[in-house]
Amino acid sequence: MTDIHKPAERRRLSMVDVAAHAGVSVGTVSNALNRPELVAERTLRRVRASIKTLGFVPSAPARQLRGGTARSVGVMVRDIGNPFFSEVLPGIETRLSQEHLLLMLCSSSDSLEKEAYYLQVLEQHRVPGILITPAGPDISHLVELRGRGVGVVLLDRPGADSQLCAVAVDNVRGGELAGGHLLSLGHRRIAFLNGPSIVRQCADRREGLHKAVRAAGLDPDEVITEITLPALTPHEGEAALQRLSLGKKGPTALFCVNDTVALGALRGLESRGIGVPRDMAVMGYDDVEFAALLSPSLTSIRQPKQQLGQAAAELLLTDSRGDANHWHQEIVFQPSLMVRASTTT
Ligand code: RIB
Repeated sequence: MTDIHKPAERRRLSMVDVAAHAGVSVGTVSNALNRPELVAERTLRRVRASIKTLGFVPSAPARQLRGGTARSVGVMVRDIGNPFFSEVLPGIETRLSQEHLLLMLCSSSDSLEKEAYYLQVLEQHRVPGILITPAGPDISHLVELRGRGVGVVLLDRPGADSQLCAVAVDNVRGGELAGGHLLSLGHRRIAFLNGPSIVRQCADRREGLHKAVRAAGLDPDEVITEITLPALTPHEGEAALQRLSLGKKGPTALFCVNDTVALGALRGLESRGIGVPRDMAVMGYDDVEFAALLSPSLTSIRQPKQQLGQAAAELLLTDSRGDANHWHQEIVFQPSLMVRASTTT
């Protein structure tokens, strides 16, 4: 009795099926697909006829990349919902598509466990290389992964003493630019909505902000009120306002660790009737597409997202070829200040 609820047996055809149908070995089928010059014309015709009859779709042939049999590379970001990453990805995809490689996109959601799981899946898929923004500060597992023959490039994360290739933006400089801008406008009470210090990007932006305050001859402890957010989202940006004393002696400027946090903070200020920049200047970081479209438009620190993605993909192609004389490279881009209406009238 056929169980009507049980889906019909489906099995992906393999070269074994083609070999049996054509009456040849699996190796002959493989050669017919990948090195037809090694197969007699008559046999080649027989194999191709069987492929057509069976409707067999061969898996893509492995490229000349070390270790990899997959035609894809892994890309692991921290938060797929963050527009920063969706604006970095086109740079990666553009470069990899020139090599006919696909992206296997994963998001660690800042979870070490999720990151470990996806790395295992990607390694099992025998991808030749992985671009990754690590979820945590420790990257020894990524160095070990590379030692097992998988190319690894750190994306948006400075290198680890040349143990791995890396592409990043100078976030210390970015924090310094943000601090310098707000100080130049006369702000002396700055609230910094930051992420956890174990996130390298957050720690570096903090370092840059403090550097700018000290360079102005001021004490960071007196100028900066730092709020650590559990996640870099609009919801947490809005919620953080409840942890600030927004009165006459409160902050006159908000520096948000990224634009999505700034988006939430702007909404919270509006719901409290606090004018931007009249009562509170607001800055973000990343300069994602929506920053210029907000009202008021958001002052932000621009990260060269397209170039970051293209450079990371280029390094991955090099790193994944397994050239014995490959030297790890670290490419660091510079951020820039994009002044808009949320800080100046
Ligand atoms: O991943 C968190 C943040 O770091 C992003 O918003 C972007 O700024 C990245 O550099």
